[in-house]
Amino acid sequence: MEDVKILAIESSCDETAAAVVVNGREVLSNVISSQIDLHTLYGGVVPEIASRKHIENINPVIEKALSDANCTLDDIDAIGVTCGPGLVGALLVGVAEAKAIAFAKDIPLIGVNHIEGHVCANYVEDKTLEPPFLCLIVSGGHTHLVMVEDYCQYKILGKSRDDAAGEAFDKVARAIGLGYPGGPKIDKAAKEGDAFAYDFPKAKIADNPYDFSFSGVKSAVLNELNAKKMKGEDIVTEDVAASFQRSVVETLVDRAMLAVEETGMKKIALAGGVASNTELRKKFKEECEKRGIDFYYPSPELCTDNAVMIGSAAYFEYKNGTRDGWNLNAIPNLKLGDR
Ligand code: KG4
Ligand code: ZN
Repeated sequence: MEDVKILAIESSCDETAAAVVVNGREVLSNVISSQIDLHTLYGGVVPEIASRKHIENINPVIEKALSDANCTLDDIDAIGVTCGPGLVGALLVGVAEAKAIAFAKDIPLIGVNHIEGHVCANYVEDKTLEPPFLCLIVSGGHTHLVMVEDYCQYKILGKSRDDAAGEAFDKVARAIGLGYPGGPKIDKAAKEGDAFAYDFPKAKIADNPYDFSFSGVKSAVLNELNAKKMKGEDIVTEDVAASFQRSVVETLVDRAMLAVEETGMKKIALAGGVASNTELRKKFKEECEKRGIDFYYPSPELCTDNAVMIGSAAYFEYKNGTRDGWNLNAIPNLKLGDR
């Protein structure tokens, strides 16, 4: 079969990204323009500012992705673009750009589900990985435990009923004064803290053992901070960070290992921004080794938002026959499996 070279665009949140990916696994370029510094001023992502920054950055980012890959638009076989979930204004910038290129060059347009993209980062990281496998997707917006039954075919076993894992990291980080983005800061602070200083709760969901809830642990941290403040006592930031992280990591690992045991699946992967958390990776590795199962995880730059993962997902969708028309739109609350 001929090689398929895809230009991929990602603009669902605060990263404007473009990449050229061959056959879903080989990276020719990976360009990311992050807006983190800009949003740090406001303590989180401001949607309208994100959209404006995307519209400014998108052409230079695509130009660089093409030149890094040593190619021009004439070499591109199809365009893949994140069409959801994400911030609507941010998504629209990428979708409109992708449509314009597909129209001008008369090549296929493929709208990609961002969550599917996170899963596919694993195909890029490990060229031998093939479905079926279990995957825990933990990002700023999503916490999903899924069975990847085949390329482009997902069965959701469980998901968060409230806050996503990354969202909990970000909110707790803000409360203990670490700022935005919280995940990497808690990861770092936790290394200096006592993870058993506090016993924060680990929620269990009665009607689905694979579902998650992180609002309880977040509230417990906030209550603890308030209680200390009322008594005029100081908190040890590192201890709170480490104890909070332990609660989240143990919950994630427990649910994932339950799925391993109940499905008998011998392969499990991590995906999404929180998948770069050092403690989560360490615990996963230990538990997988204990059970003799294969553990896959993308390198940190493929865990957080990027266009390489979108290029990979677009390729497998392309092979599956997915083609979008000029009516492709941004779908802010797109679910995994809906496309
Ligand atoms: O996948 P991602 O880049 O964007 C979404 O699709 O949401 O994930 C971003 C999330 C943020 O909540 C960030 O705090 C978290 O991933 N994150 C981490 C770490 N690095 C990023 N959380 C915990 N530990 C980390 N090292
Ligand atoms: Zn993401």
